Amino acid sequence: MSVLIKGGHIVTAVDDFVGDILIEGETIVEIGASLGANADRVIDAGGKYVIPGAVDPHTHMEMPFGGTVTCDDFTSGTTSAAFGGTTTHIDFCLQAPGQSIPDALVTWHEKIERCPPVIDVSFHMAITDLHDGGRLEDVAKVPEQGVTSYKLFMAYKGAIMVDDETLFRTMQVAAKTGALVMVHAENGDAIDVLVKQALAEGKTEPRWHAATRPPITEGEATGRAIKLAHLAGCPLYVVHVSCGEAIEPVAAARAAGWRTWGETCTQYLFIDETRLEEPDFAGAKYVYTPPPRPVHNQELLWKALQTGVLSVVSTDHCPFRWEDQKALGRDDFSKIPNGGPGIENRLHMLHHFGVREGRLTMNKFVDLCCTQPAKLFGLFPRKGTIAVGSDADIVVWDAEKPLTLSAATHHSNVDYNLFEGTEVIGAPELVMCRGEVIVENDELVASPGSGQFIARARFGEALRPKAGVAAS
Ligand code: URP
Ligand code: ZN
Ligand code: ZN
Repeated sequence: MSVLIKGGHIVTAVDDFVGDILIEGETIVEIGASLGANADRVIDAGGKYVIPGAVDPHTHMEMPFGGTVTCDDFTSGTTSAAFGGTTTHIDFCLQAPGQSIPDALVTWHEKIERCPPVIDVSFHMAITDLHDGGRLEDVAKVPEQGVTSYKLFMAYKGAIMVDDETLFRTMQVAAKTGALVMVHAENGDAIDVLVKQALAEGKTEPRWHAATRPPITEGEATGRAIKLAHLAGCPLYVVHVSCGEAIEPVAAARAAGWRTWGETCTQYLFIDETRLEEPDFAGAKYVYTPPPRPVHNQELLWKALQTGVLSVVSTDHCPFRWEDQKALGRDDFSKIPNGGPGIENRLHMLHHFGVREGRLTMNKFVDLCCTQPAKLFGLFPRKGTIAVGSDADIVVWDAEKPLTLSAATHHSNVDYNLFEGTEVIGAPELVMCRGEVIVENDELVASPGSGQFIARARFGEALRPKAGVAAS
């Protein structure tokens, strides 16, 4: 099957031109002017942007956490992603207490077999325990399975937090295996003390979630992780950077030439700590970690994206229904499952408030949402760009399409939307994953299972296009 995407305004992280894209099967085979009159299908993209399918490197599908399980499985979560223009996501395979690393990977592969994805999927290995289940030899073997990043949590004491020994030993393994280490950087010990003290004083409402996780706890852990990674000699990626206190050590490390990268997430650019005070327990919707911050941090985050201090915007899609899951913490904020939804709306929000409002160029928008995540996580050049030989993961983006973001119309199983009622202009008209149209005219036209598991390359290595495709 050949498809021609005709006359679109093609934008990658570096290109900006009007042209045609010819696709054979799953792959882009030619880019130019007046191509392929004989294609099986011609898609008229005149007047529309044509951008790479977006890559979301931070999601939590069907993940046991906080006494419950995130409410999107791989089918519902990836359907939601597809409607927003995301065609690949990388999910955290979370080692359960006492579980071996190989068994954890089997568990996550079973999840995508039981609830098959609509878009392509890869995994990070989230190591929670090296003492019982997790042997360092097993950690070293993980990249052989195409899982080329290790994640460690420096918070969530008593649950999935690791100590500095575990963190540092994993970093030493990563230095040898070519894996990228990712950290959730907060000082979990200090936070645990602050949470206990707040509860002892009868402070139980959602707003205490932010008050007990002040920005300095994120800044301290970020600096510590950066120094340990430098000592161990591994590359480091700091997830969900939320505040100036954490931006500073990332900026300093990068200025010094250290192999440090950071992401922020959509919600930190738009939602501030006052939302936790919404009445009738509505504040629980914003209980994610790190918490929403004082509003001045939003400008610091935009600046960090603009200047390359932060490299990626992800979603940290970790959905818990408000009605019955967030409700677990009605009488105690520390029991509210931590996490928020967002996989569907990242491009909507960044295009409207980033590109349309002049904070980002179209190239930078593509770089942050598609190209940098693909490069940092061993998916490039198969994913994250529009090039001959790359997978035909493509979004025809209508920059004039109005949309109101809402739980009533989104495609996740979650019962609220962090950006409820926000009116944006700009949305996908058509979404394609490996040459298959998966969303068109606001309808899902693919079936679960159209997405595949993608084995990623090691840090800094290219994921080569499939054999038999000549790159020009
Ligand atoms: O609140 C959050 N972010 N939940 C998901 C787990 C994590 O810390 O990324
Ligand atoms: Zn986290
Ligand atoms: Zn997360």
